[in-house]
Amino acid sequence: MSLIGQHNNGNGLVVSGPQLRPRKKEVAMSSSEETGGSLSESQIAVHWREEEYLYPSAGFIGQANAAEPAIYKRFSEERFPECFREYADLLHWDAYWHTTLDTTNPPFWKWFVGGRLNASYNCVDRHLATKANKAAFIWVPEPETEGAKAITYQELYRRVNEFAAMLKGFCGLESGDRVTFHMPMVPDLPVSMLACARLGVVHSEVFAGFSGTACGGRIADSGSRVLVTIDGYYRDGKWLDHKAKADEAVAVAKSEGVEIEKVLVFRRNPGEYHSASPMVQGRDYFVDDVIGDYLRQLVAPVPMPAEAPLFLMYTSGTTGRPKGAQHSTGGYLSYVAGTSKYFLDIHPEDTYWCFADIGWITGHSYIVYGPLALGTTSVLYEGAPAYPDPGRPWRIAERLGVNIFHTAPTTVRMLRKLGKDEPAKHDYHFKLMCTVGEPIEPEVWRWYYESVGKAEAAIVDTWWMTETGGFLASTLPALKPMKPGSCGPAALGIYPIIYDDDGEVVEAGSGKAGNICIRNPWPGVMQTVWGQPERFVQTYYARYCQDKASTDWRDWPFMCGDGAVQAEDGYYRILGRIDDVINVAGHRLGTKELESAVLTVPEVAEAAAVPVIDEVRGRVVEMYVALQPGLSASPEIEDKVKRSIEVQIGKVARPKNVWIVPDMPKTRSGKIMRRVIASISNFADVGDITTLANPDVVEGIRRQVYKQKTERGEAPRELSAKELEEIQSYGKAE
Ligand code: WT7
Repeated sequence: MSLIGQHNNGNGLVVSGPQLRPRKKEVAMSSSEETGGSLSESQIAVHWREEEYLYPSAGFIGQANAAEPAIYKRFSEERFPECFREYADLLHWDAYWHTTLDTTNPPFWKWFVGGRLNASYNCVDRHLATKANKAAFIWVPEPETEGAKAITYQELYRRVNEFAAMLKGFCGLESGDRVTFHMPMVPDLPVSMLACARLGVVHSEVFAGFSGTACGGRIADSGSRVLVTIDGYYRDGKWLDHKAKADEAVAVAKSEGVEIEKVLVFRRNPGEYHSASPMVQGRDYFVDDVIGDYLRQLVAPVPMPAEAPLFLMYTSGTTGRPKGAQHSTGGYLSYVAGTSKYFLDIHPEDTYWCFADIGWITGHSYIVYGPLALGTTSVLYEGAPAYPDPGRPWRIAERLGVNIFHTAPTTVRMLRKLGKDEPAKHDYHFKLMCTVGEPIEPEVWRWYYESVGKAEAAIVDTWWMTETGGFLASTLPALKPMKPGSCGPAALGIYPIIYDDDGEVVEAGSGKAGNICIRNPWPGVMQTVWGQPERFVQTYYARYCQDKASTDWRDWPFMCGDGAVQAEDGYYRILGRIDDVINVAGHRLGTKELESAVLTVPEVAEAAAVPVIDEVRGRVVEMYVALQPGLSASPEIEDKVKRSIEVQIGKVARPKNVWIVPDMPKTRSGKIMRRVIASISNFADVGDITTLANPDVVEGIRRQVYKQKTERGEAPRELSAKELEEIQSYGKAE
């Protein structure tokens, strides 16, 4: 279908330039009615208007790490794969590699083969000569009375060594073993990660907001023998008792056949234990007790093969079982160091604040590994964005002199909603801001630019995912203008391609939507799904592989799982996931995971999760449930359903509403028509229901849901054409 497809002014290259005020263009938009026929899932169009370019300031350009257009030439396809030497050369290698890219066992690519390095050495030790007393992290506890605490590279060095000595001496861990962390935003988390990296132990951090059960499943999947946790932490003004989750996690792992031998419990305030959960004798140990035996010990960083796994990061997909994305040491670290330098424009003297959680890939790549590899100073914030008021982030930025700010659209929306005028009251100046995790609406983008960035910060909208280790598309901030709502061209050395559902290539720059893939391997790409190599091949490569016998990377495009369009200027717009994933406040939740959690409630016969458009969180989940025969709806069952999700996945996934319905709308083959209930949940037209096996149930559900929503004060919200299409075609594959 033809799309927006309007030209943009400018050739994309910036020499210098005044700040342009964005102006909306009047653009004729096509709709599905005009093109006739129904759209396939991957063809959903973006109906945001094409925005005009904005240019970074001459001051920004003057200091940028990537300021010469020649950098695009250095990373052009003819130079692939050697172009990535430039990233790898940012690191210290104990042994230099002999083969940049080994493709002999596709799609299990190997980068920098023959090379050896240690991630902990690269992030800590090598900075000591020049930066020992520079802050590596400035930790900001949520309670403001506590004040910020700086951890210098020297201190980080000591703490990492001592904890590594403890992991080795006390837990007997060695390279190749896995360790699970269930840790919030405290400095002990990066210390633990780097301690593992020092030994070549593979870490697997589970987001602290996830439940003990979810953590237990991941422990079992990774085969960890050690769990690292904490007594509790502050969030939104509340002390959260966290240790209890460890007990659950250990029990769940055990039920899946994996025995945790030791639980290492940090205490947020060493020496004081604030948890109702008792310590289990012979299993649970306070880190601040045991570490006393390891003080002053140094552990030599183990030179790891470049392709040794550094960590696992679990993520959601189409089926219920989470996938452990396995990331490498050499390729991954090179990629995050290189992209941090060029796209985030991190210099060692910057004060950088990535307002994400280390429990997600963003935190691994762009709080811990990338920024530390470059020797910068990072802010680590414990708490919630608007606690105790929406001025908090700007107070932190002002007080600490933050000049690079990195967060997700959901946080921007929340801060805008709660404190539109707050940024102007604070004396901070960002040179660069990053947005990541979901598409950002041009309206929200503009508030970010004008209010948060004070119209002086360059913005990068970075598109990527857990599996890709680092950015796939973004503007290089000094070289390409910003275009609100578009993430920009492909990142350096990344060559995307868009396919339609029939496997035909969508013409580059045509503005037509399809499934975006990356044609080439890159150093940051995951190595495999931990323990499930077939699933790795199946999920990411099977669909568009040209020839399974080929060892030529050109035959193995990587399927990202997003719909996208590319405009004529080469900029991409991301339309969202094409698999059964709902992106809630930047957190990826698999509908199958949600539904299987609910199906554990004995009263429930059927469950279907659908997305609801939300002003702040992007999407939230509503759960439709049909009960076992003979049972009738009750608030108790509704609570049980909510609890089941909280317990098995975590509070982040708690559905906004649970609708207990007499029957689900179904196709003749018995599949739940999710697009119909998704439409109802969003007050949208349910569309054609004549092909349903039971069209008569729809009106009843609609009435029930509208009535209860009205009682709960939920008003219909006008949806954009893009949102409407997403909802009305939700789960269409069924
Ligand atoms: C999904 C990946 C990237 C780290 C955090 C999320 C969506 C990510 C953008 C962006 C539009 C984006 C995609 C992607 N996404 N960044 N800049 N613009 N959409 O990692 O949990 O693996 O989620 O987030 O849909 O597939 P994740």
